[in-house]
Amino acid sequence: MQAYIIKEINQPPFKTEVAIPVPNDDEALVKISASALNHRDVWITKGQYPGIKLGAIMGADGCGTWEGKEYVINPGLDWGSDEAYQALNFRVLGVPDDGTFADYICIPKKYLHEKPSYLTVEEAAALPLAGVTAYRALVVKTKPKAGDKVLISGIGGGVALFAMQYAIALGCDVYVTSGTEDKIEKAISLGAKGGYLYHDAEWPKKLMADIGGVDVVIDSAGGSGFNNLVKVCHPGARISFYGGSLGKIDGLNPQLIFWRQISLLGSTMGSDQDFVDMLAFVDKYKIRPVVDEVLSFDDLPLGFQKMEAGKQFGKIVFKNN
Ligand SMILES: NC(=O)c1ccc[n+]([C@@H]2O[C@H](COP(=O)([O-])OP(=O)(O)OC[C@H]3O[C@@H](n4cnc5c(N)ncnc54)[C@H](OP(=O)(O)O)[C@@H]3O)[C@@H](O)[C@H]2O)c1
Repeated sequence: MQAYIIKEINQPPFKTEVAIPVPNDDEALVKISASALNHRDVWITKGQYPGIKLGAIMGADGCGTWEGKEYVINPGLDWGSDEAYQALNFRVLGVPDDGTFADYICIPKKYLHEKPSYLTVEEAAALPLAGVTAYRALVVKTKPKAGDKVLISGIGGGVALFAMQYAIALGCDVYVTSGTEDKIEKAISLGAKGGYLYHDAEWPKKLMADIGGVDVVIDSAGGSGFNNLVKVCHPGARISFYGGSLGKIDGLNPQLIFWRQISLLGSTMGSDQDFVDMLAFVDKYKIRPVVDEVLSFDDLPLGFQKMEAGKQFGKIVFKNN
């Protein structure tokens, strides 16, 4: 079968021929119909991710068929028994374990979940990693209520867009930040109430003038811009963050946080229960993943280039041949 492996660091994923894996009794051999890209895959090609195993098949997101039925794959392996945090041997599918950028994958049957029937295979492939990350970061951690003002930074991101869709479904008023006006306009067309350019130093003041602050923040950028997120919080606000793309948070002001009773909530992926709950949630509200582009399996490296350049709005999906 054809598969994309991590052959060398700082090289694009490498397409090669590998043997079709053979499942043991607990596993299913799934024929992949479509897979999708996450920023994690880009970090891996750059060597900026723990536990990289050269030669492993990449890809965390996938939808495929087994014994005539269509399934999505939960990419969170061995979460463990505590809902509050993952076990030490928790792994995300696709390096070091062989992932979804292939014609077939062998996966323990417990990670297969029936594809929501209203989704296409391309939409379903876009859902797992970003969908569960957004579900835990927003729904489980910040417990948003209808009418809450929710700010989501970097709305072009895969996880960010799911968080926006979930918050809107729950009746929250969603505001976004982005690097470009056109992504803000697209978010507004999907139901956001407004947006701000994160490169504009005045954006926190503009938000405060417009709406007076927010109750919930969802972020994956970190970096010094995180301080602006704290500044626009109402007393009692919850900030949930699942990434640190821009690095350390310099100059965080403790007084701004403790005096206003703000909660900082770290979040990563989701438990098996979160994955089940996420699927029920998207099915209940008939949420359709925002797909930026569907590329052929042969064009998979082009998706990496687009994500590195930050040009996408939503998920980049690969359709198998
Ligand atoms: N802990 C976890 O379980 C987990 C799970 C998934 C992802 N992550 C991490 O979360 C991050 C995002 O992942 P993803 O897959 O959603 O990536 P992605 O689709 O590539 O999105 C990244 C987004 O970051 C935004 N961004 C860039 N500069 C920013 C800034 N200065 N301020 C705010 N936002 C900025 C961009 O927003 P615009 O395009 O709107 O400018 C971009 O769309 C990555 O670091 C990833 O490793 C962690």
